[in-house]
Amino acid sequence: MSDGTTGLVLAVESSCDETAVAVVQEGRRIVANVVASQVALHATTGGIVPEVAARAHLRWMIPVLDEARRQAGLDGMAGIEAIAVTEGPGLAGSLLVGITMAKTLAWLHGLPLVPVNHLEGHIYAAWLIDPAEPEKPAPEFPIVALVVSGGHTFLVEMASHMHYRLLGQTVDDAAGEAFDKVGRLLGLPYPGGPAIMRAAAAATAHDRRFPRAWLGDTFDFSFSGLKTAARREVEREIAAGPSPDPGDGNAVLPSASVAELAYGFQESVVDVLATKTIRAAQQANARTVVLGGGVAANSVLRDRVAEGARSLGVPLVVPRPALCTDNAAMIGAAGFFRARAGVRADDSLAARPSLKLAVAEPV
Ligand code: KG4
Ligand code: ZN
Repeated sequence: MSDGTTGLVLAVESSCDETAVAVVQEGRRIVANVVASQVALHATTGGIVPEVAARAHLRWMIPVLDEARRQAGLDGMAGIEAIAVTEGPGLAGSLLVGITMAKTLAWLHGLPLVPVNHLEGHIYAAWLIDPAEPEKPAPEFPIVALVVSGGHTFLVEMASHMHYRLLGQTVDDAAGEAFDKVGRLLGLPYPGGPAIMRAAAAATAHDRRFPRAWLGDTFDFSFSGLKTAARREVEREIAAGPSPDPGDGNAVLPSASVAELAYGFQESVVDVLATKTIRAAQQANARTVVLGGGVAANSVLRDRVAEGARSLGVPLVVPRPALCTDNAAMIGAAGFFRARAGVRADDSLAARPSLKLAVAEPV
């Protein structure tokens, strides 16, 4: 995009279970941001059924696009300079719906089509500015970013735009996956992350301690042992006899026990994530720490990383919770910087369910 233009990117995201369209200016200012969540739909099955998710995207994609255009006050596509879309990673059938929408829009309006890596989107959420928010400086490089979502958990160093060096990643489950699985063990509603956070807030004894998988000095993570420890603890407490509070839905244990177990589990996950992130920031001489992905909506994790970053004297950028979970504004932010670097897709663009974090040339 050259000078004297609008800098407006329309972005489409449908990689998992949120149907989302946004309009973002210059990779930063949110002009419109619409997310249709399928959480209620998937709560009935306790998790995502891929075909159900794809069908819901098909049902909601056009209404979500219309609402985004209404919010942005767009007359057709006037002023839009590029269409950005998540090409992966994610569920194949879900990705296809967004990609087809984006391709069609680009073709109809003669606009460039810009493919975006969903994980890159979670990092670029840190660049976003809300409509009513005053200007703020962009995150300064080098950046150390922790991305913690339902399917991914990793730490990267960014020396410049779209330049990623992987510092460490999970060797088994993603942090969000662990929250979701342990939430289910505790009889909490789907998704487990927010439910565990709410349950843990009611804990008072703080007397259940779960193991931490430090994996030596590496920046790798492991959560499967923790999940097994949580299962064993839940089974032990169920066998010990106290029955759930009367009228308490799907509860497996009294709510006080659920609160303590949720607290102990959350502490273990947060402790490892926050400690490694701050150590990575220190080693990399980071000028900014960034948190992204659905688990970054967790207030205990946010507070713990903020504390560590403050003691290092490095600013932390963590988007508000609704911008940590899946949305299209983050795809619009990453899409702008990709478009500026000349990244384009043609009409052969396909869904890439297992896409890794792209390593592109810096701007
Ligand atoms: O980034 P995201 O919206 O979708 C993926 O790309 O996976 O992340 C969803 C994940 C789920 O596992 C959900 O349980 C978790 O983020 N999550 C949370 C919280 N809010 C969402 N985990 C912990 N605490 C939260 N408050
Ligand atoms: Zn995500």
